[in-house]
Amino acid sequence: MVVTESIRLRNYLFNYPVNRPRRLRSNVLIRNMVAETMLRPDDFVMPIFVREDINEPEPIKSLPGQYRWPLNDKLINFVDQLVSSGIRSVILFGIPEHKDEWGSSAYDEHGIIQRTIKFLKDSFEDKLIVMADVCLCEYTDHGHCGVVKKLPDGRYIVDNDSTIELYAKTAVTYAESGVDVVAPSGMMDGQVKAIREALDRAGFNDVVIMAYSAKYASSFYGPFREAAASAPKFGDRRSYQMDPRNAHEALKEVAMDINEGADIVMVKPAMLYLDVIRLVKQNFPEVPLAAYQVSGEYAMLKAAIMNGWLDEKRAILESLIAIRRAGADLIITYFAKDVVNYLDEIERLF
Ligand code: PBG
Repeated sequence: MVVTESIRLRNYLFNYPVNRPRRLRSNVLIRNMVAETMLRPDDFVMPIFVREDINEPEPIKSLPGQYRWPLNDKLINFVDQLVSSGIRSVILFGIPEHKDEWGSSAYDEHGIIQRTIKFLKDSFEDKLIVMADVCLCEYTDHGHCGVVKKLPDGRYIVDNDSTIELYAKTAVTYAESGVDVVAPSGMMDGQVKAIREALDRAGFNDVVIMAYSAKYASSFYGPFREAAASAPKFGDRRSYQMDPRNAHEALKEVAMDINEGADIVMVKPAMLYLDVIRLVKQNFPEVPLAAYQVSGEYAMLKAAIMNGWLDEKRAILESLIAIRRAGADLIITYFAKDVVNYLDEIERLF
């Protein structure tokens, strides 16, 4: 999408009295002809939770319509449905049986995500892009995204440099399992560089890095943490995730990630950070930009829809159009699986 800088000039033109903007809204064909923003199935990434110790899909209470999936044919059937309805990529989150201080299940070569990647790549080959989130919060018993250390003064911190080594190790095991894209989400400094170097050293030059570059310390991750049982047991994530009061800081994070080797950058959450999406796209138009419509944004819309307070298709489509219009190239959204089935209705509903 093209972001125009000439708004002042345009306003000037629109001020001519002969201009009547309503002409271009008078019927559906004209509206479609001049519509700037499109949604395609290829733009969407569907998040999937895979849980180690279950045999049946488990509904997630705070995310109506979403499930924790077992690693068996039920998952394959679900992904098969996604693929046949036009979804081209999924991002995996694991819920392991075993959690410990070091998050060791994250980099276990037989871990839940490693096995899921193999299973999906064997079943779908090049019909599906398999992405995997790289973080420790689902794997540590304390729920933090990295290694927790006690300082001499008694305070606890999440240690940056020992954590990024574990991210790199995790990413390599995902690559060995056949992953297409790794997505570091822990917001540690230098995580992209550590992962890129480790992947290249192991010969995985083609594995793409999608960096959660501007990830905010948001209360809108609540339902996800319930789904993945990954809420921190003490403290919070404000010492590593970004402060919601800062927009320009996102540019620094994005620039650093690009410099460290990120192929795709991300802003997260999406709906509450449209200004940040726009800012990043304007400053780095050449880098593909992802936006994550997070669990709380899904839950909020879903709750209003289930109460009959919002029109389902129009509200969901409008939320996704807004994210694209702001400048996102791809959208990670829990609505992906449903919305691909009615994308063609945009031309009738708008
Ligand atoms: C893992 C991770 C989180 C989300 C994506 N990756 C949780 C968190 O940072 O607490 C949240 C996604 C969502 O809310 O949908 N670090």
